[in-house]
Parts: sequence; structure tokens; C-alpha cells
Amino acid sequence: MPAYQREEEPLLQFPPDFLWGSAISAHQTEGGNNNQWTEWEKQPGNIVDGSVSGRADDFYHLYEHDLDLAKELGHNTFRFSVEWSRIEPGEGEWNAREIEHYRMVLKAIRRRGLEPLITLHHFTNPIWMEAGGGWPDSRSVELFGRYTSYLAEKLGDLVGIWTAINEPTAYASMSYMHGKFPPCEKDPSKYGLVLRHMLLAHAEAYHAIHDVLGKNRTKDAPKVGTVKDMTYFQAFDEESPEDRNEAASLHQSYNASFLDAIDTGRIGPPMGQGELIPTVEDTWDFLGFNYYTRRLVGERVRNHPNKSTAPPRKDSLGETDMGWEIYPQGIYELLKWLKSYGKPIYITENGTAVHDDKIRSMFIVLHLEQVHRAITELGADVRAYYYWSLMDNFEWNSGFNKRFGLVEVDYKTLKRKSRPSAYVYRDIIMNNGITAKTLNEYKKHAATLVGNKH
Ligand code: FCB
Repeated sequence: MPAYQREEEPLLQFPPDFLWGSAISAHQTEGGNNNQWTEWEKQPGNIVDGSVSGRADDFYHLYEHDLDLAKELGHNTFRFSVEWSRIEPGEGEWNAREIEHYRMVLKAIRRRGLEPLITLHHFTNPIWMEAGGGWPDSRSVELFGRYTSYLAEKLGDLVGIWTAINEPTAYASMSYMHGKFPPCEKDPSKYGLVLRHMLLAHAEAYHAIHDVLGKNRTKDAPKVGTVKDMTYFQAFDEESPEDRNEAASLHQSYNASFLDAIDTGRIGPPMGQGELIPTVEDTWDFLGFNYYTRRLVGERVRNHPNKSTAPPRKDSLGETDMGWEIYPQGIYELLKWLKSYGKPIYITENGTAVHDDKIRSMFIVLHLEQVHRAITELGADVRAYYYWSLMDNFEWNSGFNKRFGLVEVDYKTLKRKSRPSAYVYRDIIMNNGITAKTLNEYKKHAATLVGNKH
């Protein structure tokens, strides 16, 4: 492992107490799960590379080892999720052994001096829940609330930072609008309904955790937030009012509506008609913000032969293995807007799947440069950054060959190997900032990539 040596004062210094870490989720890493995804993966054709999650990274058994890696790589926080189907394998049946397992994981995180951030739902549902109607059924709200209260009772002494549902908009749209995640429906009205239930379930969870653990707003009171996926929508032709309107309306429905609802209690489209539900109001102590990419919209994009990707623009750094454009400035633009909500922000995911690891290092450095700009120029209250992901894992319907990890995983042997980018990130953490040398190196690299596909 290359040793860390402090060579110079960082040019871009982050606030003291900034949290630095990485994120994983249960189904993508644990292995041996039995939920609606496990069932769906078995049907040929559903996972692009033909794989099934199977034993995944076997994080379930290797977590001590993986947490050692996170620690060695300088991380001081760790985001992971617990698997509902393990904890409640049948409706109202609670599995004490699995709770004990997650207590051990949490203790292992804390023993290494890392602050845990827990997520209670990360795309997967118990089979009984899915079979009973899943998220389109209004009972989902109560079922999720009960599960959350149980977790607050059982894990509350070990967790300070809670997020209820990961990326509700991504879940609802991929599962009910785009037909890409189980149950693969394409029904816009169900999309709105599922998102509404997830919103109400989020509010249930917020109150349940505070009811069980106390909300005295002291230093030690639990913090409960949401993890919201955000895309930076931009008009391809910024001179065109139609293109600008299209970007603004996508921004409102995809990025803003969920946050507006948990902020004000007013439930706008696609989740409602503007009605007020007081129990939803101000149900966030912080925002978990996931950022990956920009989406250019407008006429030229619609008429482009490959509608999923925009024609290249001069400021584009090309696409990743996921076909997602690398656009660091998008994180700055979104932070600028998010600042108006006045909540602390935790960047709960930001990362890239690329074959060329140098691009991963560049991705991290240039996104952090923009985060730093938002903090220093705008006063954005950003408190944490979690790279997605600590290690390669099961990338949902893309399978195993999309590699997001700071750590490479050999799926035959389950051997882990830190990539060079893991050390670039470690040095940023150790410096609590980015040196001029690092920044210049990756800016130069970026200049060679404009408009490329990697
Ligand atoms: C996010 C998911 C996460 C991972 C990354 C690449 O949408 O929350 O599980 O798949 O994308």
C-alpha cells in the first residue's frame, strides 16, 4: 500500500469535522439474500450480463475485513443498509439472529472509529411484502413504519444517522415507469402512487425513530434524513425557451417535488394534488443527496438517434461504463439550489463505473472541487461525502461487470484489491482537502477527455 506523505498544504481545504467515507447497500454486497430481486434475477434476460446477485461480495461474512479496508483507506464514516427481508422474513415475524448480526456490523464500524450512516430500505422488499401488493398498496406505509420502529428499538443505541428510503424516485420510476427493475411495470399512475406511499412511509419512519429514541435536539439526538437521487437537468439549447421549460419541469417533478413535500407537508404532483398532510411537514433533519450525472434535454436531444444520451457538448467529459455523462459542475448547480432548503447536506453517493481507474480518481477530485466551491462560495452546509462504492458490487440490472469500487473484487476468489483511486481519495481525506498538485494533475487529464466515451 502506498504510504501517505503530507507534501504540501491543501489548496482546497474542507471544513473541520467533515465526514469522509464510502457507501454500499445490503443486496448489492451481502450475498445470500432472498427478496423480490433474488426471485427476479433468476429469470433469464433480466440482468444484462446474465448474472445473479448470489453470494455477491459476501460482505455478510467478510464485513470485518472490508471495514479494515475502509479504515486503512482513511475513511471516518460508513454508509450501509440493512435488509428488510432478513429482519422480517414473514409478515410480523422478526428474526433476532439477523438483528444480532447487524448489531455486530455496527459495533465493528464503531470499533474502527467510523461513524455509521444506516439506510433502512435500499430497493429491496421482502417477498411477502411484494406478493401482498408491494409499494402500490397503501399498507406499505404502515408495514414500513412498523419495521422502522422495530429497528429503532433494536439498533438505536448504535446508530446516530438514519436514512429511511434510498432514492424513492429512482425506485418508483425504474420499477413502475421504465419497467427496468422488478416488477417491471410501465404505468405512470402507479409511479405517482408508489412515490406517494414512499413519501408517507418516510414520514412514518421519521416520527417512529424520533418517538423511540427521543427528539430532544441535543447533540446526541438521532438525525433522520432521506436519500434523494438528483439529476442535473439542463436545456441543451439554453437559448430555447421550450428546452429551458422542459429542463425546469423535469427538475421540479424529479428533484424538487419530494423535498418540497417533506419540507412543507404539501404534496404536489406526481404524488398528490397539492393537499396538505401535516405529519409529513419538516420530516428531515438533513438531506442525503446522491449525484451521478447531468441530463441534457430539449429538441436536439429528442431527435438524436440515441435518445438516452445527448449529443456531445463542448463541456462534456464523456461517458462512463453506465453511459452516464461525467459532469462535475452539476453537483455545484444542484447544491446551489439545495441551499435554499436550509438543511445540512450529506452527499450520500457520488461515484463512477469505469475501466480506466485514472478516470475514477479524476471524477472524485473534480466533483470534490465543485463541492468545495459550493461550500466556500455559497456557504452550502455540506457535512459529508460518501463515494459510491467502497468495493465493486452487484449493480442491479447491469450485473457485476459495472465496477464502481475503490476496491476491486475478484468474484472467483472474493479477493479484494484497493485501486490507485482509493489512495488518491485517502490522501484527500488525510489532508482534509485537495492539494494544488492533485487538482492540476486531474484538470489536465480532464482536458484530454472532452467529448470522449471511456
Ligand atoms: C444508485 C443506487 C446505488 C447504486 C448507484 C450506482 O442509484 O442507489 O445502489 O446502484 O446508483
